[in-house]
Amino acid sequence: MNIGDYKEYISAETMMGPNSVRILAELFDRYPLQLAPDDRILDLGCGTGLTSLVIAKETGAKVFANDLWVSAEENGRRFVEWGVGELITPVCEDANDLHFEKNQFRALISIDSYHYFAGSKGFFQEKILPFMKDDGVVLIGIPGLKDEYTGRAKELLSDWLGEDAYMFKSPKLWKEIIGSSNRIESVNTWEMDCFSKAWDDWLAANNEFALGDRQYFDTVIKPYTCFVGIYIRLKQAL
Ligand SMILES: C[S@@+](CC[C@H](N)C(=O)[O-])C[C@H]1O[C@@H](n2cnc3c(N)ncnc32)[C@H](O)[C@@H]1O
Repeated sequence: MNIGDYKEYISAETMMGPNSVRILAELFDRYPLQLAPDDRILDLGCGTGLTSLVIAKETGAKVFANDLWVSAEENGRRFVEWGVGELITPVCEDANDLHFEKNQFRALISIDSYHYFAGSKGFFQEKILPFMKDDGVVLIGIPGLKDEYTGRAKELLSDWLGEDAYMFKSPKLWKEIIGSSNRIESVNTWEMDCFSKAWDDWLAANNEFALGDRQYFDTVIKPYTCFVGIYIRLKQAL
């Protein structure tokens, strides 16, 4: 995938953290999706819908763009403005209580958001798996702790993140949290390569939250954190 194709959409207004398009590009490059136009993809915690746009354009499949903080109306207006109103359905629901039809998504993608709501064991099996089709795939990219600091988030990140520090977990810990099920074929978690570039794009943005993050980048963010990639492959139908 060529990130340059999306340059005009990536801005201080559409970014909500380190460049989500770079994170998505690494996931797509490592695990290319082969989808048909009538396949459905859930972009969970899509924010302003920047990733939903890229997912729709790159896969040609139907995208459901779900977020909690950004309304469906706001995202819907943006999708029409971007010319993808027909391809993307905006939804505003809490990931803890989704109301989609069961067994419908061929893929679930979640960039920089899964850590807000899915950090407890059993979440994937109870809240996500029922909506996924057999043989489906899940691609997640989230900020986390490097493996060598597993379990030390509060001690190392509280100055920067305050009470949210607990959300940052290592690739090793995320593999345990996702866990197993008779519908899961495999789970792979790893430290992603896009860390520096995704952060550089965000820190250069004229956004008040980016200005705040700048103060902690060299002392906290760079030494202790990473982006965690999570790939889950579901089993084929029995
Ligand atoms: C840092 S933003 C990232 C947005 C976008 N994925 C991106 O990378 O630009 C985190 C997003 O997680 C979403 N989120 C947090 N808790 C959520 C929940 N319980 N259900 C659905 N979305 C949630 C928020 O609405 C927010 O837009």
